[in-house]
Parts: sequence; C-alpha cells; structure tokens
Amino acid sequence: MSKENPSINDARRKKFEKNPINGTKFTIAISSAKGGVGKSTFATNLALALKNLGLKVGILDADIYGPSLPKLFSIKEKPENREGKLIPVSKYNIQCMSMGFLTDEQTPMIWRGPMVTSAIKTFTQKVDWKDLDFIIVDMPPGTGDTQLTFAQEIKIDGIIIISTPQELALQDVKRGISMFDKLKVNIIGLVDNMSYFIGDDGKRYSIFGDGGVKKTAEEFNKNFLGEIPINSDIGKFGDQGTPIVEKFPDHEISKIYTDFANKLKSQFI
Ligand SMILES: Nc1ncnc2c1ncn2[C@@H]1O[C@H](COP(=O)(O)OP(=O)(O)OP(=O)(O)O)[C@@H](O)[C@H]1O
Ligand SMILES: [Mg+2]
Repeated sequence: MSKENPSINDARRKKFEKNPINGTKFTIAISSAKGGVGKSTFATNLALALKNLGLKVGILDADIYGPSLPKLFSIKEKPENREGKLIPVSKYNIQCMSMGFLTDEQTPMIWRGPMVTSAIKTFTQKVDWKDLDFIIVDMPPGTGDTQLTFAQEIKIDGIIIISTPQELALQDVKRGISMFDKLKVNIIGLVDNMSYFIGDDGKRYSIFGDGGVKKTAEEFNKNFLGEIPINSDIGKFGDQGTPIVEKFPDHEISKIYTDFANKLKSQFI
C-alpha cells in the first residue's frame, strides 16, 4: 500500500496533466526553432486546405510578440468577449484568434515570460472555439516560453516542423526537435519550405542547398512530409491578406498544401 497521502498523488497527477483546448478534436502546432522560415505561411495555407477538404478548422496565432494572422487574413475586427470568453473572429470560414486582434498594429509588445504564458493560457482555455476538427497553432520562432507552455501544459496532438534547407536554419531546427523529443511531444514530421526554385527555363534550382531537411528527418528518425518550392505568388497573396490556397485553390502551389492537408486528415480523421 502506498504510504503517500492520496491527495498528494492527486495534486502531483494534476500538475502533469495537460489541458486540452476545448471545442476541437485535434490540435496541431506548426513550429521551427528558426525564424522566418515560413511557419505562418504554412499554418494559414494548411488551415485553408483542410477547410477545402470539408473540415472545420481554427487557427490560433500563438506568436504574442509578432502576430501574423491579422495581416495574412486581413482581419481588422476585434473578438467579442461574451461571458468571460473570447469569441474567435471568423474569416474564410475559419475560426481565428491572435494577440494582434487585441493590440494596435504599431505597438510593440513589451512583455515578460510569465505574461506570455498567461496570454497562451487565455487563448487555449478562454476562447470559445466551436465544433472544430483541427486547431492549427502558429508558433513563434525559438524554443522559449510559448513552446514550453504548449509542450508541458497543453494537450497537443502533434507538431509539424518547418525548415528551409540552409545549414544555419537546420542547426536551430535540430535544437527544436531535441526539445520536443525531450518533452515527449509527438512530431508528425518535417517540411522543407523554400526548397527549390523553378526558373523560366523550367529547370529546378536548389538555391539554399539540397536535401538538408530530409537528411535531418532521417537523422532524428522523423517523417519527411514533403517540399514546398520558392514561389513569389505565395508571398504576394499572403501580403494581400488572401493566402494562395484561398485565392486560387487550383494553383499548382495550392495543390502542394492540399497534399499536406490530405496527409494530416488521413492520419487523424
Ligand atoms: N515557399 C515560399 N516561397 C516564397 N516565399 C515564401 C515561402 N514561404 C514563405 N515565404 C515568405 O517568407 C516570408 C516569411 O514567412 P513567414 O512569415 O510565414 O515565416 P515565419 O517562419 O512565420 O516567420 P516568424 O519566425 O517571424 O514567425 C514571408 O514573406 C512569406 O511570404
Ligand atoms: Mg510567423
């Protein structure tokens, strides 16, 4: 018989129990320890591709210091607060939440770690997400407070890691993989973004090197999910606030995002 007081065991269990985000079946985070590799672009286009497959989707922009969702989805409205819960802003038939909806675009966020953690808890526990199949979480760069909060305190079903093929990016990405492995978060796989460029001559140019992300996936025994080329339309339509998958669902690039969405759907639904 255990000599420990059962209430101590309960308290301990509670400490290690992860809180699910209510209102969704699955929560998938898009991460990379490296900045500027295309996480937000991937998160938004993947969410739109999942929606086009008939699924109900939300996007949680977890980048408290540098939110991208207001710009990428051209959202200017503020979420309503109803009975202590924030109501997600609906755009392109996707439920959206971002710190950028609550602050002025020009105002820098000067917050300490515990405040970021508290904002993440609000976004995961006090938002009225409704009947979703997937919430796609767009993570900030790095391996800081946000990643730790998600890995330790929130029930996430998997992480997709985005990288570009340069050694400098991969060096950070390897740190990110090790962190999530240590914290026992399921890594669904790695995506090679800005992998190659197709020139006007129709030839493939590997601008940032070839095969580095795939090799990293093999090295860490993770799935390699595929490549996305450099294509100026991706940035153009993102900047205009209607990502390419929403604007042109049949574009060759949108089909690539749809392939990723199909892989996710078949794995979870
Ligand atoms: N495959 C691609 N082809 C061309 N441009 C791309 C591609 N993927 C992303 N971009 C562009 O790269 C820039 C950075 O993308 P994004 O903001 O999605 O990166 P991020 O990883 O979320 O950055 P941060 O770390 O700051 O959050 C954007 O201008 C985006 O349009
Ligand atoms: Mg981003």
